[in-house]
Amino acid sequence: MSIPAALRVLGSEDTPNSNSSYQDPFKTMPQSILVMGATGKQGGATIRQLCALPNSKNDLRILAVTRNISSDAAVELKQKHPQIELLQGDYSNLGNLFDALPATPYALFSVQPSVYRGYTPEKEIQQGKALHEAAIDIGVGHIVYTSVDRHGDQSDKTCGVPHFDAKWEIEMHLTAECARSKKTTWTILRPTTFFDNYTPDMQGRVIAATFGQAKKGQQFVACKDIGWFAAQAMADPERFRGRKISLAGDDITLPAMRERFYEKMGYAMPEGYAWMGSGALWAMKEIGMMYRWLNEVGYGADVQACRKENPGMMNFAMWIDDEKESGFTKGGEVLGNWLS
Ligand SMILES: NC(=O)c1ccc[n+]([C@@H]2O[C@H](COP(=O)([O-])OP(=O)(O)OC[C@H]3O[C@@H](n4cnc5c(N)ncnc54)[C@H](OP(=O)(O)O)[C@@H]3O)[C@@H](O)[C@H]2O)c1
Repeated sequence: MSIPAALRVLGSEDTPNSNSSYQDPFKTMPQSILVMGATGKQGGATIRQLCALPNSKNDLRILAVTRNISSDAAVELKQKHPQIELLQGDYSNLGNLFDALPATPYALFSVQPSVYRGYTPEKEIQQGKALHEAAIDIGVGHIVYTSVDRHGDQSDKTCGVPHFDAKWEIEMHLTAECARSKKTTWTILRPTTFFDNYTPDMQGRVIAATFGQAKKGQQFVACKDIGWFAAQAMADPERFRGRKISLAGDDITLPAMRERFYEKMGYAMPEGYAWMGSGALWAMKEIGMMYRWLNEVGYGADVQACRKENPGMMNFAMWIDDEKESGFTKGGEVLGNWLS
C-alpha cells in the first residue's frame, strides 16, 4: 500500500503534487483529526482505520469525541488504541468542545446520532449543521460526513424517509457552506445498512426480525469499510474531495444471510420472532417508513465500484469471518442459554 498523500505531507516527504502549482491546504495545517461519535460504530471504525494508516502514530493526532471519557466504551476505545486522545464533547454544547480543541483539526469525521438513539430528524439536522458551521468557521480543512444512500445516483434528492432526508439536508448545507468558505473541502459517504447492526443480543435479534419484513434483498456494508473510506478520504483528500460515495459490500436476501451464517458459524443466525420485527416497525414510525422505501425503491450503491476502490470490501460471509473472534461466538453461547 502506498503512503497516503496527506501523510506524506505530514511526514514532510515529497508529494505527487510537490512540483505542480496545486497548493495542498493541509500542508500548513496541524495534523489533528477530530472524530465525532468515536465510541459508536462508524466513528470507532474510522479510528481503527486511521490508526492502521502507515505512520499514523507519528503523524496523526486523533481526537476522539465522547460525552463521557470515563464510560466503559471510551475506556475500551482508549485501551484498544492508546495513541488516541479522548475529548469530552456533546452536540448540545459544541462551543465547549471547540474551545477545548488543542489545535485546529485539519480534518473532521462527522456523524450524528439519529432515530435509533431517540433523536428526531429535526434534531439531527440542527446538530449536523451546527457542527459543520463551527468546523468551517475555525478553518478545518476537510470534512468527511457520513450520511446514507438514497438509491445511488438518485441520492441528491429527498426520498421521503424523514431521517434519510435529514441527512440530505445536512449534505446540502455542508456543500453550500464549504463553497462559501472557499477553504474547507468535503467528502460525503453514503452507507447502506450496516452488517454491524446484527449483534447477537436482543437489540440485534429485533433488527434481524425487522429485516424479515423486507420483501426483497437489501444492500449492506461493514462499518470497517465505512471507516476505510473515511480514513482514506482524510489521508488522501486530493483523491476524495468533492466526492459523494454510496457504500455497499453486498446485496443479499435474508434467506441467503441465514445460509451464509449457518455455513460459517454452524448454528442458526440469531433472530427475534417475526412479531418483534412487525412490532418494531409499528412502534417506530421512521423505521416503518424506511422499510416501505426499502421495499419500494431501495438502496442503489455500486458494489463492484466500491470493491474496485477498496479490494477488501466485505460481503456478509467475509464480515462474519472478521467478527468471528468477538461478537457472534460469545453471543452464540448467550443466545443458546436464552433459547434453552
Ligand atoms: N445502522 C445503520 O444500518 C445505518 C445505516 C446508514 C446510516 N446510519 C446512520 O448512522 C448514524 C449513527 O452512526 P453510528 O451507528 O456509527 O452511531 P452509534 O453506534 O449509534 O453511536 C452513536 C455515537 O454518538 C455519540 N453521541 C450520542 N449522543 C451524542 C451527543 N449528544 N453529543 C455527542 N455525541 C453523541 C455516542 O457517543 P458517547 O455515548 O460516547 O457520547 C456514540 O458514539 C445515524 O445518523 C444513522 O441514521 C445508520
